[in-house]
Amino acid sequence: MEIIIQPDDKTASYLGARIVAQVIRRRCETVLGLATGNTPLMLYKELIRLHIEEELDFRRVTTFNLDEYVGLAPSHPSSYNSFMWENLFRHIDIPEHQIHIPDGLAPDIPAFCRQYEGAIKAAGGIDIQVLGIGTDGHIGFNEPSSSLTSRTRIKTLTRQTRKDNAPFFNGEENVPDHVITMGVGTIMDSRMCLLMAFGEKKAEAIAAMVEGPITASVPASILQVHPHAVVLADEKAASLLKRADYYRWVYENKPEWQKYK
Ligand code: F6R
Repeated sequence: MEIIIQPDDKTASYLGARIVAQVIRRRCETVLGLATGNTPLMLYKELIRLHIEEELDFRRVTTFNLDEYVGLAPSHPSSYNSFMWENLFRHIDIPEHQIHIPDGLAPDIPAFCRQYEGAIKAAGGIDIQVLGIGTDGHIGFNEPSSSLTSRTRIKTLTRQTRKDNAPFFNGEENVPDHVITMGVGTIMDSRMCLLMAFGEKKAEAIAAMVEGPITASVPASILQVHPHAVVLADEKAASLLKRADYYRWVYENKPEWQKYK
């Protein structure tokens, strides 16, 4: 794992956007795995700016979102579908048929999940998966105790996640109980994972995922064995890392050819 510590969420998001843009510029048919929530908002803003001002081209990019709430129509204002259109898709030139978001209204959820897995495979697999992390260590909505080899399926949110997401729903009681989420195994199949974490409230989860044991109790910890995982944290989220000075030194002393452009 590469751990990059940046002074704040803005600097970290700009670097995250540069990393994603570099992947897209190298291969215009990039398959992009996307996350929702607060964490990637500035990264998406920066990708939009790169599209408008620096000709970052999404016309041949395909996207797969990590998750969606069960029972919410795509048009529901709190759906992840609405979130993605509002915060990214409507501002860039990606054709609609290249966008994939789990269908919260799928009548047969297991069949839909199999189809979603099949679509990722048919697209050639995910080149770079953008991830946030839950305060309980989840990635996607793979809550603690999720199988570390799981595939796309339905999951039940923890009380903590419902609390964390309450602001998007005007109160915890309105947060749906169930979600469709890519599995941990699905995420691990991505060629690169870019996990971002900002703020003090993510510090414990980041310490556990980076320096704790690999365990289903902290699903993000499985990224320790991913061949190309990058963790992009601000100082606050990195504040409980014991080897923070080493990670900083490694980043500052990267060989020129390894640096993100
Ligand atoms: C969202 C997702 C979740 C979030 C996580 C952090 O698509 O998969 O894992 O990344 O819950 O949420 P924020 O960024 O709102 O703190």
